[in-house]
Amino acid sequence: MNDLTDKTILVTGAASGIGAAVVRQCVQSGAIVIAADKDDPAEHTGLGMPHQNLILDVSDSGAVRRVISGLKHLDGVVNAAGIVGQGSLQQLDEDKWQQVMDVNLTGTMLVCKYAAQLMLENHTKGAMVNLSSAYGLTGGPGNIAYNVSKSAIWQLTQCAAADLGAAGIRVNAVGPGYIETPMTDMLKNAGPFRDQFVAMHLLKRSGEAEEVAAAICFLLSDDASYITGATLPVDGGFTAAHVPMVNLG
Ligand SMILES: NC(=O)c1ccc[n+]([C@@H]2O[C@H](COP(=O)([O-])OP(=O)(O)OC[C@H]3O[C@@H](n4cnc5c(N)ncnc54)[C@H](O)[C@@H]3O)[C@@H](O)[C@H]2O)c1
Repeated sequence: MNDLTDKTILVTGAASGIGAAVVRQCVQSGAIVIAADKDDPAEHTGLGMPHQNLILDVSDSGAVRRVISGLKHLDGVVNAAGIVGQGSLQQLDEDKWQQVMDVNLTGTMLVCKYAAQLMLENHTKGAMVNLSSAYGLTGGPGNIAYNVSKSAIWQLTQCAAADLGAAGIRVNAVGPGYIETPMTDMLKNAGPFRDQFVAMHLLKRSGEAEEVAAAICFLLSDDASYITGATLPVDGGFTAAHVPMVNLG
C-alpha cells in the first residue's frame, strides 16, 4: 500500500463507489481525509476526527470556492463525484447534457482550480487525480453526454498539469472500465448486453472500486513523483483492444 502519512486529501464523491473506496484506502495509508459529497458522506464513511465530512455540490462554484478557501492545507485531491447521462445524440435531453457537463466536467475543473490556488499559496507540491473513463478514451454509441464529459477530463488533466507543473503540482487521471458500483447497478440485470460488455474487457471480468482506488492512491503518493498529465487506464484492457477475434486462415 502506498504511503500517504499525514497528507491531507480532499475526496469528492466520497459517499459511494470509487470515492468511498478511495477514502478507505487513504485512511489506511495514513492520510487525513476530507470526504465531500452532495449526500452527507458521514452516513457512509464513518469517519471522525481528525477526518472531516462535508456536504458539497461540486457544480456550485461559490460552494466549492468557500469550502476550499476555508481549508488550511491540502496535499491531494481526488475528483470522484460524477453522474451518468445516457442517450444517443438524437435522444439526448439538452438539460441532461448540461447537468452532466456541470457535474462531471465543470465540477472537476472547479475543485482543481480552487485546490490549485490553495496549494500555490502554501507552496505545496500537491497531487490531483481526476476520474475520466475508458469511455472517455474511446467513442461509443448511446452515451454521448457522459463520454464527452469524460473525454474532456482527459484534456483538462493535461492542461492543468501543464499550468501547474512548474510549481511541482502533479495532475493525473484514471480511466476506469466497467466497475461494479451503484453507478453501474443498471447493468446487473442487463443479461446478454452485460455479458458482451464484460467480454470487451481483456481480463473478461468487471473491476472493483478498490482496484481503481489503489491506482488513485499510487498517483497521489510520492511513488508517482515523476508522473503528471497522464490518464492511466484501469479498465481490464478495455481500451487496449476491443476488436473481435480474427481468423482469416
Ligand atoms: N463505475 C464505473 O464503471 C465507472 C467507470 C468509469 C468512470 N467512473 C467514474 O468514477 C467516478 C465515481 O463513480 P462511481 O462508480 O463510484 O459512482 P457512484 O454513483 O457510486 O458515486 C458517485 C458519487 O458522486 C456523488 N455526486 C454526484 N453528483 C455530485 C455533485 N454534484 N457534487 C458532489 N457529489 C456528487 C454521488 O452522490 C455519489 O456519492 C465518477 O466520476 C464516474 O463517472 C465510474
